[in-house]
Amino acid sequence: MKILLFGKNGQVGWELQRSLAPLGELVALASDSQALCGDLTDLAGIAQTVRAVAPDVIVNAAAHTAVDRAESEPELARALNALAPGVLAQEAQRSGAWLIHYSTDYVFDGSGDTPWLETDPTGPLNVYGQTKLEGEAAIRASGCQHLIFRTSWVYAARGGNFAKTMLRLARERDHLAVINDQIGAPTGADLLADVTAHAIRSAMQRPELGGLYHLAAGGQTSWYDYARFVIEFARQADAGIKVASDAIQAVPSSAFPTAAQRPLNSRLDTRKLQTTFNLQLPHWQDGITRMLTETLEKSS
Ligand SMILES: NC(=O)c1ccc[n+]([C@@H]2O[C@H](COP(=O)([O-])OP(=O)(O)OC[C@H]3O[C@@H](n4cnc5c(N)ncnc54)[C@H](OP(=O)(O)O)[C@@H]3O)[C@@H](O)[C@H]2O)c1
Repeated sequence: MKILLFGKNGQVGWELQRSLAPLGELVALASDSQALCGDLTDLAGIAQTVRAVAPDVIVNAAAHTAVDRAESEPELARALNALAPGVLAQEAQRSGAWLIHYSTDYVFDGSGDTPWLETDPTGPLNVYGQTKLEGEAAIRASGCQHLIFRTSWVYAARGGNFAKTMLRLARERDHLAVINDQIGAPTGADLLADVTAHAIRSAMQRPELGGLYHLAAGGQTSWYDYARFVIEFARQADAGIKVASDAIQAVPSSAFPTAAQRPLNSRLDTRKLQTTFNLQLPHWQDGITRMLTETLEKSS
């Protein structure tokens, strides 16, 4: 099997380089790759790359993920999140390849407090969510064989993320305020990559498994409780935490105005994925504990 990966250096892309390698020949590209075009703003270039590589599977881990910046550069966000996936999908359709793509809980409006199903109506609140939704639609419209995984609150040992930011702030400050009215599940890039590899194998054998799936770690939390978990873990590990437990304050989203509005309810119902692929998604605390252990060991 030949696999073509776009976005190899992102949180998920990095882990995919590991998890996809045993499946076959892997051609992994970044935006600045030289021999082949991996720049998703170059639509003709990526089409040409797919034709040159002739993969069995295209995996797109590249995206415009800067949610606030997307508000001021919607055309770039649309190019990366909607137009490029559309081109990859057309090329997949033309050649009979599979396209594997990632989307987001931000396609929803965040109302209610029950986990979103794949069939629930969407209603993005910001440019990032809107363009990611357009990307999903372009893939579906192409008619190519595909797997789209909507996920949430991604973190990894490599790259910047909320958990690492909280660790840094908790070492620097004696007071922290963290949002407690947005609820979701922190999901490890390693988990996403491992599930992706498993799903590719299953779908190649059973093409009827193609479609849209919600993929997030088990359980749910607020950013506030997530921050507390990270900080208390680091405190137990003697990792130089300065902020006292009672100096971490829970605040509403309105305390931190941002360019992009965020959904309050980011819960994803993952039963379809777990049943279809016979998988069990571990609790978010399991993955975070592992990532923190690695990160703190490296920094000690
Ligand atoms: N992060 C989250 O919390 C989250 C939540 C839900 C869904 N998702 C989705 O999950 C997927 C993976 O996200 P992630 O967290 O791994 O993102 P990430 O760490 O921000 O990585 C994004 C990747 O896109 C690449 N990229 C940016 N502009 C590009 C261009 N013009 N051409 C080619 N590549 C370009 C970046 O490469 P450079 O660094 O070289 O520019 C980077 O490798 C995305 O589809 C994202 O929408 C993420």
